[in-house]
Amino acid sequence: MDALIRDIYKMPAGQEFEGFFIIENVEIKKHRTGEPYLRLIVSDRTGTLPILWWKPPKDADLTIFKKGDVVFIKAYVELFQGNVQPKIRLMRHAEKNEFKREKFIRSSRFNIDEQFTKLLEIIETIQNPYLKKLLELIFYDDEIASAFIKTPGGKFIHHATIGGLLEHTLGVVEICEVVAKRYKSIDRDLLITAAILHDLGKIDEYSIDMAIDRTDEGILLGHIFTGSELISKKIDEIEGFPKKLKIKLLHCILSHHGEYEYGSPKKPKTLEAVALHYADALDSKVKGYEEHIERELGEGKGWTKRHFAYEVPIFFDGEISYEE
Ligand SMILES: [Fe+2]
Ligand SMILES: [Fe+2]
Repeated sequence: MDALIRDIYKMPAGQEFEGFFIIENVEIKKHRTGEPYLRLIVSDRTGTLPILWWKPPKDADLTIFKKGDVVFIKAYVELFQGNVQPKIRLMRHAEKNEFKREKFIRSSRFNIDEQFTKLLEIIETIQNPYLKKLLELIFYDDEIASAFIKTPGGKFIHHATIGGLLEHTLGVVEICEVVAKRYKSIDRDLLITAAILHDLGKIDEYSIDMAIDRTDEGILLGHIFTGSELISKKIDEIEGFPKKLKIKLLHCILSHHGEYEYGSPKKPKTLEAVALHYADALDSKVKGYEEHIERELGEGKGWTKRHFAYEVPIFFDGEISYEE
């Protein structure tokens, strides 16, 4: 049985388990006697777990275990100061075809092809010829499109799934449609275009090998910059694209995180920018809550543990549903 971390946290002391996990962090420590042991943090798609290899075999080479490695572990649950901290009996590297990648990354619950078709249909509704041309240039580019449909929306907080970016993008677009209908002063075409493109830079921000990880480019530049740069380049390929429209669109992208401390170099200063910012925050937060509930409770009901970013436990006694 390939144990899930979510379930290990519910096991009583002494219970044995085994499974495949990714090493998130590993340190070689020493007992007082000088003998080495390993202190690890491992993960799967349901969470992270601190675990110790307290008594590795004397001849074991402990330096071969690195962050990002997939390992097979046999262990038993121990409690340390009331917290679950299992001890390993056996650990080795996993073979490529021994485990399922889905243990580590989930796919979006929505059908990716259907969602992408939906996105192309929305592009068809854009009246402004320059914005429409821009969206077509981007989404009819095979390289961009194939990256876009696979990319996750985030590493852990929200839409941390294959196809998560597409799912999140459609979520933000739908919220923006409602806002544009309610507030007639908003330029609907500009807002919808900005919503479709707001996180485009994430195609360079994340890698999905075994787990979702941020790329060097993502860490050093971030999706607000890489997205703005790509959009700007594509705009420059379109003859006669109005300069003011370019500035207003880029402003939406640059300000969509709303605050300097969340990585936006500009605060929202147009109706479209402020609408996009809150639509983005709304979609990512509700989804972030939902994913935390799924990760923590599975099929169960009640309270989750405190969310590490939102800083509250979450209550849920319904049933997760993805019916359209
Ligand atoms: Fe973003
Ligand atoms: Fe976003």
